[in-house]
Parts: sequence; structure tokens; C-alpha cells
Amino acid sequence: MVLACVLAGCKSTPPPTPLNLLNAQQMRGHGVYQAHCVICHNDRKDAPLNGPSMVGVFKRQYLPSGAAATDERVSATILHGRNMMPAQGNMLDQQDLDDLLAYLHTL
Ligand code: HEC
Repeated sequence: MVLACVLAGCKSTPPPTPLNLLNAQQMRGHGVYQAHCVICHNDRKDAPLNGPSMVGVFKRQYLPSGAAATDERVSATILHGRNMMPAQGNMLDQQDLDDLLAYLHTL
């Protein structure tokens, strides 16, 4: 697996968990994603929209910007925005954010 990553540059990640296998929190996060993220980010295919696809976002070591793919870094991006990405913090409470991160981890 590690060797495959080295050879393939870790570009291919396992596919997102099918929606019917998500737990209650992940499913709520999917709802938050539909409401706030899906217009700019694909979550079921690799093609970019306004922003990069979220497929495999936590399965890779780095975010598209090159920052580490950690909960802290992704939360900060969501709350404060980044370049052309508007801040989403005023639309989400802590529960929404937790659920959203749980969903992003299934992608
Ligand atoms: C209006 C469009 C828009 C919306 C809505 C939006 N984003 Fe983004 N997002 C972008 C763009 C554009 C970028 C690329 C920013 C850059 O790095 O220049 C981006 C980048 C990102 C990144 C990568 C950051 C990095 O360091 O590379 C993550 C993660 C992300 N968005 C998650 C989300 C999540 C989760 C939501 C929903 C809460 C969301 N975005 C909503 C446009 C959007």
C-alpha cells in the first residue's frame, strides 16, 4: 500500500463511502454539505467545480493548497474561507461543523 502510494503518487484513493452506509452523524454532515458546499465542490467525483473536489480530502496527506489535511486546517478553511472561497463560519454552528467533518472523512 505504501509502495503503491510512492509509485502512484497517492493520486488514487479508495472511493467515498456509499451514502446508504453512513451513520447518523455522517448523514447529517451530508445535509450540511448539500446546503453549504456542493455548489462549489464535488463530493462524488474528482472534477473541480468552483473549488477542488472533496473526494479523498482526508485520505491524502495534503490539501490542494499544500497544507496538511487535518481537521484543524479544514475547519479553519470552512470557518474563515480561503482566497475565492467565502467564509462559512457565520452559517454553521459547532454541531454542523462536527457533522460536516465526519462526512468529509467518508469521502
Ligand atoms: C462559493 C464557492 C465555495 C463554497 C460555497 C465553498 N468553497 Fe471551499 N473552496 C472554494 C474555492 C474557490 C477553493 C480554492 C481556494 C484556494 O486555495 O485558492 C476552496 C477550497 C477549499 C478547500 C481546500 C483548502 C486548501 O487548503 O487547499 C477545502 C477543504 C474546502 N474548500 C472545503 C469547503 C467546504 C467543506 C465547504 C462547505 C462548508 C466549502 N468549501 C464551501 C470555493 C467554495
